[in-house]
Amino acid sequence: MYEAEIVLRHAGQLLTVPPSATGGAPDDVGLIEDGALAIAEGRVLWVGPTAELERHVKVTGDTGQYDLHGRVVTPGLVDPHTHLVFAGAREREFALRAAGRPYLEILAEGGGILSTVRATRAATEDELVRLALPRLQRFLTYGVTTVEAKSGYGLSLEHELKILRATYRVGELHPVRVVPTFLGAHAVPAEFRDRKAAYVRHLVDEMLPAVAGERLAEFCDIFVDDGVFSLADARKVLGRAKELGLRPRMHAGQFNDHGGPQLAARLGAASADHLEHVSPAGIRAMAKGGVVAVLLPGAALSLGQTPPDARRFTEAGVRVALATDLNPGTSMTENLPLMMTLGIAQLKLTPEQALRGVTDHAAAALGRSGRVGTLAIGAAADVAVFDVGDWRRLAYHFGVPHAEMVLIEGEVVWTRDRIRKVAPRRGSRKG
Ligand code: NIG
Ligand code: FE
Repeated sequence: MYEAEIVLRHAGQLLTVPPSATGGAPDDVGLIEDGALAIAEGRVLWVGPTAELERHVKVTGDTGQYDLHGRVVTPGLVDPHTHLVFAGAREREFALRAAGRPYLEILAEGGGILSTVRATRAATEDELVRLALPRLQRFLTYGVTTVEAKSGYGLSLEHELKILRATYRVGELHPVRVVPTFLGAHAVPAEFRDRKAAYVRHLVDEMLPAVAGERLAEFCDIFVDDGVFSLADARKVLGRAKELGLRPRMHAGQFNDHGGPQLAARLGAASADHLEHVSPAGIRAMAKGGVVAVLLPGAALSLGQTPPDARRFTEAGVRVALATDLNPGTSMTENLPLMMTLGIAQLKLTPEQALRGVTDHAAAALGRSGRVGTLAIGAAADVAVFDVGDWRRLAYHFGVPHAEMVLIEGEVVWTRDRIRKVAPRRGSRKG
């Protein structure tokens, strides 16, 4: 019998979320009532009903023990699409767009993404680290333990490297796991205005090899849409990225369908994201290629767009993930559970699908199904404890943080301080 380092007992509902990589069904959240979890060496050692815990694992005087008094336990949540590292803010544009100015028009006039590029270029690497850390901390208070983080507000070799180095540093400084993506193809920078082909060459010949050489990113993304990058650009950028060992992903169909999902499938992309506009052929290609659909209801909300109908994907056998898309332009939020709310109320996901969307399917979008976003035995012991009695309340009571305690790789990294360790107690040996 293995010895547990930490045990959690009496979770009113414990959701294991069986990984899709090993056959977990799209609606299965693996609900255990009065559940318990045992952890050793940063991984899930055992999970099951509390009554059976000690038949399976050894609990000694050294085991950290917590009584959860009926709270809900899920895998630490996974956000598979954020623009975590940036400087500046764009409150003015938010109001302009609400008054009817189109997003791509603001960008074409040098605002939008390009205004954040100016602010981010002006910031030092240290400043970017300082700005990103509180964002990660807010993620943690919503129960999020893994976030993807894109560059894309530098748009030059120097500034993209600065952002990616800052991204690496925040991941080292903060317990939340950060998965870096290179998004040099986020917009055409001002100095390449009207010379997009030259910028694409620069991306392919200079920037990508440098990013890959420093091992600063695991994925490469591109924004394919009207007036930004074309499918032909994506073929060049993502094709080169793949040769250099970066796995492709794509901003596709946010405003118009350019056939991005089909290319994503052909390239073996981990995900295609946004997808407000996507053809039946695009969805079929994603299903066949195992490309995860990352839907971003916060961006659709902030842009006043009609959100995509997630059933088009789920019914075709495409795994749907949900992400905040945290960025200063279209989705200024770290509230991933709120994306579950929008996913259910607007995208027509079931609560089960919404939970999988921020756990296993989000992990799959990051090539990590079975490793994070699940409490299957052997997975990273990333655990969120929520102060609710029914897990669906995470989405139902929206807009506020419900997390009470969060563990990452078996370490308690955050707590609201209402859950006390019941053993071992300090000084208990001498009574
Ligand atoms: O995912 N659409 C492109 N990128 C971001 C927005 C970036 C910005 O406006 O700063 C998105 O919505
Ligand atoms: Fe985005």
